[in-house]
Amino acid sequence: MNRFVYAGVAAILSATLAACGGGGDGGGSLPPPVGGGGTPQLPSPASAPALKTTLAAKFGMANFPIGAAIEVASTGGTDAAILQKHFSSITAENAMKPDTIWPNKPGTAPAQPADQPNFGPADALVNFAATNSMQVRGHTLLWHQTVPTWFVVGDLNDTMGYRATVQQHLRTYITAVMNHFPDVYAWDVVNEAATDTPNAADPYRHDSLWYAAYANGGLDGKDYVVDAFMIAGEVRAAMNKPGLKLMLNDYNTEIPGKRANVLKIVQDVINAGAPIDGVGHQLHLNLNADVAQVTAAFAAVEAVSSTLTNHVTELDVSIYADPGTCFTQRTIPPCLADLGASPPQSVLSQQATLYRALFNAFNRPSVTSVSLWGVADNHTWLNSWPVNRTNRPLLFDTAGNPKWAFWTVVDSSITVP
Ligand code: G3I
Repeated sequence: MNRFVYAGVAAILSATLAACGGGGDGGGSLPPPVGGGGTPQLPSPASAPALKTTLAAKFGMANFPIGAAIEVASTGGTDAAILQKHFSSITAENAMKPDTIWPNKPGTAPAQPADQPNFGPADALVNFAATNSMQVRGHTLLWHQTVPTWFVVGDLNDTMGYRATVQQHLRTYITAVMNHFPDVYAWDVVNEAATDTPNAADPYRHDSLWYAAYANGGLDGKDYVVDAFMIAGEVRAAMNKPGLKLMLNDYNTEIPGKRANVLKIVQDVINAGAPIDGVGHQLHLNLNADVAQVTAAFAAVEAVSSTLTNHVTELDVSIYADPGTCFTQRTIPPCLADLGASPPQSVLSQQATLYRALFNAFNRPSVTSVSLWGVADNHTWLNSWPVNRTNRPLLFDTAGNPKWAFWTVVDSSITVP
């Protein structure tokens, strides 16, 4: 159905929007009705088809995982309603990270692991998913930003003994967590291992507790990545879950120089004989994103091996097109000025057009999972990254209503204002 709605019915539509609680800011300022013109109007929220159903049909795969990252708070209220209607998968935004699951035991020095892992918040998410027949994507077994220090405590003077101790901690953790969540369909085994230095001869980031621990005594710091995949593969085999995907997840894979680093790490894991099933492309994008480079990222993974799969893991599209210096300086300027709570329609239209092109690029056999990093614009990490500033990066507005970005994705015939 063509959802292009002409201004002639704008008054009726406005009333419908109000009745449906359509007071969010996702449409920006709706254009005023114009006599006989062709200004498109945002369709009514009630007429929205289910995102998951529409995309599964588009991608030709029943139960294609269309996911959102959530905190426990999203298992109730408006978010829960959106999730139930539109999403078929969830990712824990934070609840499955090591610092939540198995923090240091309070008051111990040197650090010791808490007596028991804390699966409570993640269990709440998994139970919500089970109740609503949703799949769960595991994020993440190992990330340099969330390393409880008990993982790397040991006798640094005993080089080989220390390495064995850290390896054992890694094994203990991965074994406990994978076994506790036997039904996730994929794990980000390692998150963000690649350096940001473009086309680096050594593709690994060194500003990582894991890298530093493994490098102790002059050993090779990068070995932690192969160890993590090796251990995860052994646990998967013991669990008899051959379909569980073991993934390397990273950001900026749409930038060729960073992508090259990620692919070198994938090749290292393969060369070491460790199991790896694919790459998670975070895709934290902005209005400048080049969709051809997103496609190139998928193609590059396919070229490494036809056995590898691509997951889109953390998709969002910032409404700002900041210069690169913004991300190092983290001030305004060079970051762009705050657009406020009601960004201009032109920005939301640009975002919507980009989202349409992205989901067309995702229609590719090697792409087997797509997740957004949030449900609706009421909760997004981009309100504090790279600066504190209002952002509106998702498909649903702050009131939970479908934005233009939603409509462009689900309806190829719709025209944005
Ligand atoms: O829960 C505590 C709260 O008790 C405390 O009062 C508050 C004070 O700062 O902090 C709260 O924890 C915060 C947590 O989010 C939950 O809100 C942490 O400080 C904060 O660091 C954490 O940020 C998360 C970040 O990863 C670091 O773990 C973001 O929500 C989350 O969106 C972000 O997600 C990452 C992906 O995992 C990997 N890719 C990039 C992506 C965005 O940074």
